[in-house]
Amino acid sequence: MNEIKLSTLNKAIFEQIDLPDNAVIADLGCRDAGFLLGFQQAFPNKIKSAVGVDINDKGFKNIKYKKPIKLKVMNCAARLDFSDNTFDFVFTKDMFECVTDKAFLVKEIHRILKPGGVVICVNCDWDSVAYNGEDKELIAKAVHAYAVTKQPWMDDLDSWIGRRMYGFFNKSNLFESSVTVHNVVETEYKEGYFGYDFSKHIAWLFEENTGAFSKKEYDEFIDNLKSAQREGNYIFSKPYYIYKGIKK
Ligand SMILES: C[S@@+](CC[C@H](N)C(=O)[O-])C[C@H]1O[C@@H](n2cnc3c(N)ncnc32)[C@H](O)[C@@H]1O
Repeated sequence: MNEIKLSTLNKAIFEQIDLPDNAVIADLGCRDAGFLLGFQQAFPNKIKSAVGVDINDKGFKNIKYKKPIKLKVMNCAARLDFSDNTFDFVFTKDMFECVTDKAFLVKEIHRILKPGGVVICVNCDWDSVAYNGEDKELIAKAVHAYAVTKQPWMDDLDSWIGRRMYGFFNKSNLFESSVTVHNVVETEYKEGYFGYDFSKHIAWLFEENTGAFSKKEYDEFIDNLKSAQREGNYIFSKPYYIYKGIKK
């Protein structure tokens, strides 16, 4: 792997990847193809072709991608529009929880991988995200409400998807399975950091009138995080389960 600047999470993910020469790879639920661009940088001259798919092309606009990367609109909840035994490596991050029939998607990934091909499936366990702050109940409520409230673009939602991923693949008996967990830990509440950005996403719960978290609760939640930062005891922790399967 080439030495490129990676976040601790991406480093943990990239360390699990060992591409063969002339690798044919796919990213399912790629959004803006950020990971494919990263793989291209990290493994120069190794990738023969790379395809990113997403249910919509919103993320495809205004991004710089070129050969060997191609992007396609595809619904990963249905039969994947790829031939059997196509890919050396299939990557998918934070997409599985959106698909209802996970067993079918596991079988589809197996079908499109070459024998001995590798899948890496990365999922945050949303209900295990943690912030430190004074009001435990309020902070736990904010995290839990976000974890269990379905957003309009999701077909499905599983707030425990991280810890469940290993089982979805392993019980299929189609893969040699292993799993690691990488915890993103931050001690600063600052724009551009995961914890800060995530606290801003939580606002959608009152902005969209979900009833799961009120504006008053949200404002108090943010005050808790700001106070923790001022007092020097702010912590944000977000666990990502990194499942690796080798096609049997
Ligand atoms: C949370 S984003 C993750 C994006 C990217 N994998 C990453 O980790 O940066 C989830 C992505 O999955 C896509 N998605 C959701 N359901 C999908 C489906 N059934 N088929 C394909 N893509 C889907 C969404 O459009 C979105 O781009």
